[in-house]
Amino acid sequence: MHDQYLHDVLIIGSGAAGLSLALKLADFAKVAVLSKENLAEGATFYAQGGVSAVLDEADSFESHIEDTLIAGAGLCNPEVVKRVVNNGINSINWLVNLGVDFTRTDDKDPSGNSPYHLHQEGGHSHRRIIHAADATGKAIETKLEAKVRANKNIDLYEHHIAVDLITEDKLSRLGNRCLGAYVFNQDENRVEVFRAKITVLATGGAGKAYLYTSNPDACTGDGIAMAWRIGCRIANMEFIQFHPTCLFHPQAKSFLVSEALRGEGAKLILKNGQRFMSQYDSREELAPRDIVARAIDNEMKRLGLDCVYLDITHHDAEFLKHHFPNIYQRCLSLDLDISREPIPIVPAAHYTCGGVIIDEHGQTDVKGLYAIGEVSCSGLHGANRMASNSLLECVVYAHSAFEHICLHLPNIAPPAELPPWDESRVTDSDEEVVVTHNWEEIRRFMWDYVGIVRTTKRLQRAQHRIRLLQSEITEYYGNFRVSKDLIELRNLAVVASLIIESALSRKESRGLHYSADFPVTDVNEQATNTVLQKIQKKNGNAAA
Ligand code: FAD
Ligand code: SIN
Repeated sequence: MHDQYLHDVLIIGSGAAGLSLALKLADFAKVAVLSKENLAEGATFYAQGGVSAVLDEADSFESHIEDTLIAGAGLCNPEVVKRVVNNGINSINWLVNLGVDFTRTDDKDPSGNSPYHLHQEGGHSHRRIIHAADATGKAIETKLEAKVRANKNIDLYEHHIAVDLITEDKLSRLGNRCLGAYVFNQDENRVEVFRAKITVLATGGAGKAYLYTSNPDACTGDGIAMAWRIGCRIANMEFIQFHPTCLFHPQAKSFLVSEALRGEGAKLILKNGQRFMSQYDSREELAPRDIVARAIDNEMKRLGLDCVYLDITHHDAEFLKHHFPNIYQRCLSLDLDISREPIPIVPAAHYTCGGVIIDEHGQTDVKGLYAIGEVSCSGLHGANRMASNSLLECVVYAHSAFEHICLHLPNIAPPAELPPWDESRVTDSDEEVVVTHNWEEIRRFMWDYVGIVRTTKRLQRAQHRIRLLQSEITEYYGNFRVSKDLIELRNLAVVASLIIESALSRKESRGLHYSADFPVTDVNEQATNTVLQKIQKKNGNAAA
C-alpha cells in the first residue's frame, strides 16, 4: 500500500497518445501510466478508418494540408497543420517499426502507388488513409499495450482515475507548477497521491457528454475538466464532431460504420432508395463530416425518420469481408447482411475538436503540465477535424512532447512530499441515485439542445439546466466520498458547461457549430478561436 508515488513523468491516459509517449520516454525516464479502466479501453481501441498520411506518389503534402485547412473552416493553425502533415510518414514508420500490421495492397485490389492499401474518407481529395482492415485502432493499441507491458521503466496503474491535478498554487506554495495528481484507486477504494516532475494529460475526448455517441465509456472529458479547474485555457469546445454514420440498432451501443465505406462508394439513401447528398454538397457522400451529418439530421427531421441508410450492396460479400471484416461480422451478428441490404445509420457525437490549449511541444499554460491527443486543442483541427487526422496527431504530439520533456527533465527537481487527500469532512453517499439521474439528464439535454443544429433559445435552456446541476453536483461532491461515477459526472458537467458557453458566444455558423439563428459564417469578425479560462480563487483547499 502506497501513499505517495514518485515518478519522473506521470501520464494520465493509455490511448495512442499516452502509450506512444510512455514508450518513447521509457529509455530516459521513470514513467507512470494511469488508466481508469483496462489499459486498452479508450477511443483508440475502437478507431476503424485509419491514419492519414501522404503515402501515395500521386498525393502531396500540400494537398493534405489544403484539405485539412478547408475542413477546419478557417480556424486551423496553418503552421501546426503543416508540421503534423509533414511528420505523417515518420509517424507511420514508427508504428510500422512497432509492428503494427497495416493492410497491404494486392494485385486484385491496388489502391494507388503505395505498398499499403489506402482508403479515402470525407474531405480528403486523395486516398491517404493507411489502415489495418477496419480495426486500425485495435491493431495500434494492442501493439502499444504489449510494448509498454514489457517495459521495466513504465509502471502501469489500471483502474486508477485521476481526480484532480495538484499545483503549487492550489497548495498555496510559491509558483504555479503542476506537481502531480490525486488519483482514485478503484480496486482499493482510496485516493492516492502521484508526484511527478512532469504530468501529461492524455485522457481523450468527451463524447459521453451526449446521449448518443460513438465513444466508449471512458470518454468523459476528465482531462479537460481537470485542466480547467487549475486555470488552463480551454478552446473551441463548441466544435463537437458528430460522425454521420453510427449503426442504428437496439442492440448496437456506440457502433461506428466507418467513413471508409463511403470512400469505397457507399451511398446514403432514404428507405425508398432515394439518394439525397447531392442536394447538400457537390462532393456528395465524401463531403466533410459536418456537412454530411447535418444533411442526415435535416432529412431525419424533415421526414420524421428514426434513421437513414448507408448502401454498400454494390460490393459483394467477399470484398466486404476482406476490407471491412469487423463491420461485416458485427452487422451479420445482428442479422444484417450488408452485402444484401442497406445499413440503418444515425449521426452520433464522435470527436471533441476543442480542448486544453497547447503549444507545439504539447505544453499547457501551467508549468510542468502537457496535454496530447484528443484532450488537447493544438490548432490542427480548427472548427472541424478531418477524418483520420486524429490518430496522426496523437503520434506526432507524443513525439514533440517526448523531445521537449527529454530536454528539460534533467533540470527539474522532484516535488517534495504532498499533502494527502483530505476526507475529514465527507461521508459515504446514501443517495447514489443523484449521480445516475444527473448523468442521464446532462447527456439528454446536451443531445436535445446542444446537438447538430443549435438555436440560442435551446442553448440558453441548456445553460440554465447545467448551472442548476453544477451547483447540485458541487454540493454532493463536497459532502460524499468520491467514486468513479461521481468523478466522471463532475467532469462531464464542467465539459457540458464549456460546450454550452462556447456555443453561446459564437454568433455565427462555422464548421461543426451550426446555429439556426446565425446560419451564415462571419468571415470578418469571428474567424477566431473561442477561448475560456476559469478565474482562480487563491488558497483553495487541495482536496476540494
Ligand atoms: P483515448 O484513446 O480515448 O484514451 C484515453 C485514455 O485516458 C484511456 O486510457 C482512459 O482510460 C484514460 N483516462 C481518461 N480519463 C482518465 C482519468 N481521469 N484518469 C485516468 N485515466 C483516464 N481517429 C482517427 O484518426 N482515425 C480513425 O479511424 C478513427 N476512428 C474512430 C472510431 C471511433 C469509434 C472513435 C470513438 C474514434 C475514432 N477516431 C479515429 C478518433 C480517435 O480514435 C481518437 O481521437 C484517439 O484515439 C484519441 O486517442 P487518445 O490517446 O487521445 O485518447
Ligand atoms: C471512421 O472510420 O469513419 C472514423 C475515422 C475518424 O474518426 O477519423
